Amino acid sequence: MVTPRETRTGVPWDGRTAYEKWVEDDLGFKLHRGYAVGPLCGYPVAYWKDRNISVAFFDLIGAESLAGMYVAEIAPGQSSHAARQLADEVIYVISGSGSTTVDTARGRISFEWGPRSLFAVPLNHPYQLFNGSGIEPVRFISVNTLPIVYNLFRDPDFVFGSTHDFKRIDPEANPSDSILYVPDKDHGRTAVNLHETTFVPDILSVPRSSFRERGKGNNTVYFELANSVLSVHVAEHPGLRFFNPHRHGPSAFVFNLSGSGYSLMWLEGGAMERYDWPENDIGVIVPPNMWWHGHFGTSPASIQLAIKLRSRKLPINHLYDKSHKHISEGGTVLHYTDLDRDLRKGIWDTYVAECAKNGHEVENPD
Ligand SMILES: [Fe+2]
Repeated sequence: MVTPRETRTGVPWDGRTAYEKWVEDDLGFKLHRGYAVGPLCGYPVAYWKDRNISVAFFDLIGAESLAGMYVAEIAPGQSSHAARQLADEVIYVISGSGSTTVDTARGRISFEWGPRSLFAVPLNHPYQLFNGSGIEPVRFISVNTLPIVYNLFRDPDFVFGSTHDFKRIDPEANPSDSILYVPDKDHGRTAVNLHETTFVPDILSVPRSSFRERGKGNNTVYFELANSVLSVHVAEHPGLRFFNPHRHGPSAFVFNLSGSGYSLMWLEGGAMERYDWPENDIGVIVPPNMWWHGHFGTSPASIQLAIKLRSRKLPINHLYDKSHKHISEGGTVLHYTDLDRDLRKGIWDTYVAECAKNGHEVENPD
């Protein structure tokens, strides 16, 4: 038996997560929603006084409120205000150059970056970003675990004000030194080269290795950064060839960096979502949890950057296990002939037509 102390009509809760309320109500920013977003290079940003940067926040459906993303600018001659947070954060620099400082219990480390640099902010370590130019802005992308952390604790003083030292990195090590793990024989441990590091000065300068499970001509490299639960890969896809669809868990942010084409995503038996990659710009898709998806290049080559809630070293679930193995091996990769006849005809006919628009013929999928 419960005894009502008072009676109210309807509940006052509007269904938004604590993270959504923090961004929209506390910070006062628009939260951009959808399956995909872009182009990002000129996406409008608004000033975030607490950080002294300008930002656009995104709450993409396929992130499932676990990982979050924002695009940000640091004005010429400016630096972000020092901040720390109980969340992992991976930053990719779109344009501009500058430096990062990270404070550890054993002193401050710093490193300098430019376009195509990638780094992780170690968990709860105070950090600052400096624009190295007095003329050009810096534009970067952040993928982070703020939504899940904020939704669990719902208190900014705790999330941004804790002083615990998590010792996520070795301050004596050069931030861009790595341990390189190469593929094992059956690709059960890693299918491609994997670097464990903190800072990658230029992601495109790191050699990629053959990713045979993704198809002929696919070259990829993985990164595990600063003992974070977010990991990264850079994939080079040959276009004009059928892409084997696959599926996995939520919060995989896939950025197209170069090449033309589109991504398809669909829930088993559900309607198809298509996202056209912006030309000469950057767009991002986040395939929703366990939706099949494929990336169809309509130019001879394309490059993608994926930042995802899927560390191989520190996994938080098993929703990505065997996502590079064919369904016959217990994995989640489909070959052309595994697709339902009508579905594959639709995908194939559209692909041939789209490549033809660019004057290209497509290799036969069989
Ligand atoms: Fe994927």
